[in-house]
Amino acid sequence: MFLRNCWYVFGWSRDVVAGGKPVGRVIIGQPIAVWRSDADGRLHAAEDRCPHRHAPLSAGQVEGEAIRCLYHGMKFGTDGRCLHVPLLETAPDISIRIYPVVEKDSWIWIWTGDADKADESLIPDAFGLDNPDEPMQANSIEYDANYQLIHDNLCDLSHVDFVHESTLRLASGAWWAQSKPRITTRDRAIRFERWFVNADLPGGQSGEKVDTWIAYDFVVPGIFIMRGARYPEGTAARCGMQEPVGIEPHTRNIEQQAVTPIDEARTAYHFATGLIGNTPELTQKLAQRMGVVIAAFAEDRTMIEAQQRIWNRTDPSVEKYFLPQDKGPHLMRKLMERLVREEREAASQGA
Ligand code: FES
Ligand SMILES: [Fe+2]
Repeated sequence: MFLRNCWYVFGWSRDVVAGGKPVGRVIIGQPIAVWRSDADGRLHAAEDRCPHRHAPLSAGQVEGEAIRCLYHGMKFGTDGRCLHVPLLETAPDISIRIYPVVEKDSWIWIWTGDADKADESLIPDAFGLDNPDEPMQANSIEYDANYQLIHDNLCDLSHVDFVHESTLRLASGAWWAQSKPRITTRDRAIRFERWFVNADLPGGQSGEKVDTWIAYDFVVPGIFIMRGARYPEGTAARCGMQEPVGIEPHTRNIEQQAVTPIDEARTAYHFATGLIGNTPELTQKLAQRMGVVIAAFAEDRTMIEAQQRIWNRTDPSVEKYFLPQDKGPHLMRKLMERLVREEREAASQGA
């Protein structure tokens, strides 16, 4: 089950280099080639399948703005039209599918549905890797698992205490399974907010206590945008356990992550983390934090892939026991289900 009319993250902007080779990846089962024009570095995206013998165009080469298949040499323009075929005097009247593509906040976004429905206002704001005031480090991994298990994981962070005991649990200084997030649904997103009162200062050794505010949006079709901040003890109570506004925190962390289904059984995960504060040591600590994040996501992957293998062997009629922690994952699954159903109904009515 995939939503088609939405923006998926193809990868980081830096993954596709101007003057370099095209890059081929699969999103929701669709092979897609992305390249940059030689002259201005603009992005283009097309189906990664030459109409001749179905060689991947991503194994081809960029010529100016165009892309040439390096099997038998067919060349295609950025509008998808065939421009040239060796031995033929005029290019045949055929085209390849072109995908809407946008570059924003250091991500390459691809619209996988009907091109005329592509709506850039649906791309959520992230942080990007280029803001000197909010330095971030980025990476990507892949899971042998369906994307919805990764959505579940990100919509219920109570697992941090167990899966990430010595990584994110320690690094955050908070006990995640002991505080309930406030969950609110929006049109195409779910928001999670919570205070950790009297948490350890990250690192856990100084004995210093802080109040930590964590808020994140999980946006269709799988974009995770988080802001965390640590304040002097008592701040949560002074704010009435609401969002702290206009108060300068000790430190802030920001996270941007994207879950991109490759197909039903495999999923790409593009993530970045940032640690922001007024001390120079914090900047140095960013590399250390990235190490923790990479280790933590390897822990998630081990658990989720193992979970997927059990799901594969389990009849869907076998019920799963519902816990209060499942509220976020449940709401996200319902939201995706509704959007996919609406999309299918609209398609069947020819809308
Ligand atoms: S497969 Fe591309 S030109 Fe033959
Ligand atoms: Fe996790």
